[in-house]
Amino acid sequence: MFSKETYVKRRELLRERVSRGGLILLPGNSEAPRNYPDNGYHFRQDSNFLYFYGLKLPDLVGLLDIDAGEDWLFGDDLSMDDIIWTGPQPTVSELGARCGISHTAPLAVLQEKLTLAIRKGRPVHFLPPYRADNKLKLSRWLGICPEAIADRISIELAIAIVSLRDKKSDEEIREIEDACEIGYRMHTTAMKMCCPGARERDIAGAMGGIAGAIEDIAIEMGEGVSFHSIVTQHGETLHNHGHDGILESGRMLLVDAGAENLMNYCSDFTRSYPVNGRFTPMQRDIYEIVLAANAHAFEMAKPGLLYKEVHLACVKVILEGLKSLGLVRGDMDDAVANGVHALFMPHGLGHLMGLDVHDMEDIGEKYVGYDLETERSTQLGVSNLRMARRLQVGMVMTDEPGIYFIPAYIAKWKAEGTNKEFVNFDKLEPYMNFGGIRIEDDLLITETGNRILGKRRIPVTVQEIEEFMAGDR
Ligand code: GLY
Ligand code: MN
Ligand code: MN
Repeated sequence: MFSKETYVKRRELLRERVSRGGLILLPGNSEAPRNYPDNGYHFRQDSNFLYFYGLKLPDLVGLLDIDAGEDWLFGDDLSMDDIIWTGPQPTVSELGARCGISHTAPLAVLQEKLTLAIRKGRPVHFLPPYRADNKLKLSRWLGICPEAIADRISIELAIAIVSLRDKKSDEEIREIEDACEIGYRMHTTAMKMCCPGARERDIAGAMGGIAGAIEDIAIEMGEGVSFHSIVTQHGETLHNHGHDGILESGRMLLVDAGAENLMNYCSDFTRSYPVNGRFTPMQRDIYEIVLAANAHAFEMAKPGLLYKEVHLACVKVILEGLKSLGLVRGDMDDAVANGVHALFMPHGLGHLMGLDVHDMEDIGEKYVGYDLETERSTQLGVSNLRMARRLQVGMVMTDEPGIYFIPAYIAKWKAEGTNKEFVNFDKLEPYMNFGGIRIEDDLLITETGNRILGKRRIPVTVQEIEEFMAGDR
């Protein structure tokens, strides 16, 4: 973890930003059972708890008393029965000392404090829980039925936390760069393993996409993958988590994968490349368009710009490229305004990244990717943006344009005549088996613009990929 001063300072700032006063309740996560109580998923601490306390053990709860200026940490010390199974663990008061907290107490005391606060009419601020057990705990602690929890979250707390976590400090950037280095190892390993006859499953396992693989880079170097790895020849299915394919010459492989480092900071990269290591002219044409859009975001992104504007500029690059291939026609500004790009790229350009790969989406995209200035649109082509609001120095964004040929979606547009004045549906026929291409990098917004994160960039140009895949395996 960072030094305790980092966590003390973060909590101090949080108390200042929740001006209504009262208590802020930040529950950590508990172990989550997989198929019976003692067989759990790999433990993952809640990211807000990590941000304010840095502690990775389960069953801890943080409470900030804004009015008294006090920080509390609640948890139960382990019994000898627990220690026999888990080995010796620090006490809650030792854990408190690590993150600069002197007020620690057993969980039973938390209930007393909350009951007293509620009786006195003091506000208790909490975030939307994304795990059922935490929802039930909030329900019990606060006397709110589980169905009503979502309506009672503190918007002030949500906005305050987003305003702290959305800009990364230098020490956080170092951790993200560390996660990027793991991502580099994962992706270059995948690229080296990719050849006709290889199994998607072997590649996913080597990177860390499947627990128990023989070699698993994400666990060897960090805390594991930051989301289920996507390793597929069917890149047109955006979140394709199946790994059952056998790689075939002539197809493209899409690999979208990232890691969490030992501090749980994330990386998130996508590369798409030909299974046999050589792009066909058709693959190269589409690839170069996606790469140009990816580069355009780097050229453009800077503090003060709406990420929605960057998205719209990049999808115009994509449409101009598809126009040069004859797949779309007409004026491309009009096409963007009509959402024609959504047929080929039905997702946004990117999202914030940090302690979560989609940073803070537990708090809600409404507060993370949008604000009063940028309410979510219902219009085709922009309704699906995770992040639309203005860029600020210290934000870490993904830049992940793509072109996908989704047969069912193309057939629907064609049948319904959607944007038929712009789309040459007949010219799309040869692409029905193409799959999809996405290229994703992570960037830091700086005073002067942005920089690509990671000590070294995963091979990305056609030449770099072909040379890398032709090299020693
Ligand atoms: N793999 C999820 C994403 O790139 O957003
Ligand atoms: Mn990704
Ligand atoms: Mn991403």
